[in-house]
Amino acid sequence: MKADWLYRNATVIDGSGGPAYRGDVAVTGDKISHIAPHLTLDVGAEIDAEGKVLAPGFIDVHTHDDTNVIRMPAYLPKISQGVTTVIVGNCGISAATATIRDDVPDPMNLLGEAEHFIYPSVNAYADAVTEARPAVNVGTLIGHTTLRNNHMDSLMRPAHPAEIAAMRAQLREALTQGALGMSTGLAYATAFEAPTEEVMALAEELAAGQGIYTTHLRSEFEPILEALDEAFRIGRHARVPVVVSHHKCAGAKNWGRTRETLAFFDKMRQRQEIGCDCYPYSASSSTLDLKQVTDEFDIVITWSEPHPEMAGNTLQQIAAEWNLSLIDAARRLMPAGAIYHNMDEQDVRRVLRYPATMIGSDGLPNDPMPHPRLWGAFPRVLGHYSREAQLFPLHEAIHKMTGLPAARFRLAQRGLIKTGYYADLVLFDPATVRDAASFSAPQRPAEGIEGVMVNGVMSYGRDKQVTGRAGRFLRRQHIQHIDKEQ
Ligand code: ZN
Ligand code: CU
Repeated sequence: MKADWLYRNATVIDGSGGPAYRGDVAVTGDKISHIAPHLTLDVGAEIDAEGKVLAPGFIDVHTHDDTNVIRMPAYLPKISQGVTTVIVGNCGISAATATIRDDVPDPMNLLGEAEHFIYPSVNAYADAVTEARPAVNVGTLIGHTTLRNNHMDSLMRPAHPAEIAAMRAQLREALTQGALGMSTGLAYATAFEAPTEEVMALAEELAAGQGIYTTHLRSEFEPILEALDEAFRIGRHARVPVVVSHHKCAGAKNWGRTRETLAFFDKMRQRQEIGCDCYPYSASSSTLDLKQVTDEFDIVITWSEPHPEMAGNTLQQIAAEWNLSLIDAARRLMPAGAIYHNMDEQDVRRVLRYPATMIGSDGLPNDPMPHPRLWGAFPRVLGHYSREAQLFPLHEAIHKMTGLPAARFRLAQRGLIKTGYYADLVLFDPATVRDAASFSAPQRPAEGIEGVMVNGVMSYGRDKQVTGRAGRFLRRQHIQHIDKEQ
């Protein structure tokens, strides 16, 4: 028997949610070929994995990496965390299928400038990914705001029936070309005027192809229960699974209320397929939004078109320097990006612990001073939350980043260490793995990630260099049997 790679004496955490076991894992071509307590094989290279954890490569279910995986294909911010697959097109905004006429509407500007939106179809986007050969696999959702941008002259109103029909046709085509589902960003002004019925009509297209509905809720502030109810109703109407994006209770008046929101999840999970994703920080980040300007918590400016020199300062500091109120200073900075320290740590922990929660970074790769989640989300869950805070055992943390998201997003033969599955693997030191990215120094690769393999190609190593780029475009698959889902 022959194999290309052999991980010897690894502590295998296979992504299913089951406990670790000790064993050898062999890779042949792009697949996991053998797993046994001890393998005797003719191998190309043997890796001593003694004392190290071997896990499926992490799946970042919530990203805005749409154009960056093509423009900077080594993609160090993610491969350095052990991420081997990113799902793009979240929060209502996808580069795939977008056609920009003049200005890039907010928040599509998080993805890049007008010249970066050059993928009018999923096939065009997939071809660009294939040609760029990024280090990580890429799957895409289709953004509702992207569809609105393509078919409406103004985004500040509901879509007319003819516009809905045009959006449905484009979504249908995108799904046949392998899109994983549709995302919305209903809190943003560019989608807020869309009534529930508009989203329901589009979501009907998802049912036939088993697409998923993911949503940045209409509100993460006080009306969060109503916003959750709307998301769940859309899922029931279209008979499709729902993923609530970056679930949080934002705003000081809302702190502690994940007790209520998660109880609502529990209740509704008995009727329909529901999950959520979460990044392991108590601060959010997006474009600067006047509605979120407050003195209740710190707001840090990450970029500003008219005042780039202000990146890294708090809105409070800037307002004091300019002798303006917070809101007037914010107006002068726009368009801009911000980090909002708007969550309660106990809420973050409650959501992370929740069994239906997946890990998603929500990193913003175009920000000059990004939220540290871009480089640190996954190792922070492993090091800070699992090892140090003991929020959950390591095999549970891994399940939230591998087997659970692969099942939710129907990524065939990924997310588990199992023979016949793709060899997306991460080897790390469970005693030292940790995020190094902080709010003051956000662009630092994690510690303790020792090797990352993508489709059987060794892609990242202990020297923190990208050595391979073997990522593929992942199309939606019909899966009859779901391996394990909670
Ligand atoms: Zn979002
Ligand atoms: Cu997002």
